[in-house]
Amino acid sequence: MVIGKPLFTVEQIQRKVQELADRITRDYEGKELVMVCILKGAFMFFSDLVRHIRVPLKVDFVSCSSYVRSDSSGDIKLHHDLREQIRDKHVILVEDIADSGLTLNFLREHLLQREPASLKICVLLDKRERRLVDVNLDYVGFPIPNEFVVGYGLDYSNMFRNLPYIAVFKKST
Ligand code: PRP
Repeated sequence: MVIGKPLFTVEQIQRKVQELADRITRDYEGKELVMVCILKGAFMFFSDLVRHIRVPLKVDFVSCSSYVRSDSSGDIKLHHDLREQIRDKHVILVEDIADSGLTLNFLREHLLQREPASLKICVLLDKRERRLVDVNLDYVGFPIPNEFVVGYGLDYSNMFRNLPYIAVFKKST
């Protein structure tokens, strides 16, 4: 297994996170937020992001897993649901990466049923080339090519999430 050189360094990631947090702070001035982290991949991005946001906020966590079927649809299983009430609240769903878009699409529909005042989506990485369903991303860190990436929360077999940078991962042959 080979981890390539960083695609995004610690400094690049931290600068981008600060930028996104500043935009969110400006957009939600005078409001309160509920920030929702999609486990596990978003845990590191989420904790860096919320510590830079300067409006009052609550945090909550959801956990789900997905697999893409051959007919290009997906089965999503929700393992852990919200504990906060989000009715009439401003909510931002935070994800490490948008790939097929199935996870975000499912969670968006799921949260909208609770009738929040608003619901936006913030992703660090956008692998647009792989999209199977259209999902509107309100805050995007970096668009990325169709490469398998690990680090900063993203995994291969639940490993490499602790790397502080993001790198392309290749299985050695
Ligand atoms: C990964 C990633 C996103 C999702 C994106 O999660 O963290 O949540 O896939 O893929 P999609 O756009 O094709 O739905 P995974 O299901 O591997 O779980 P994890 O976050 O626990 O690693």
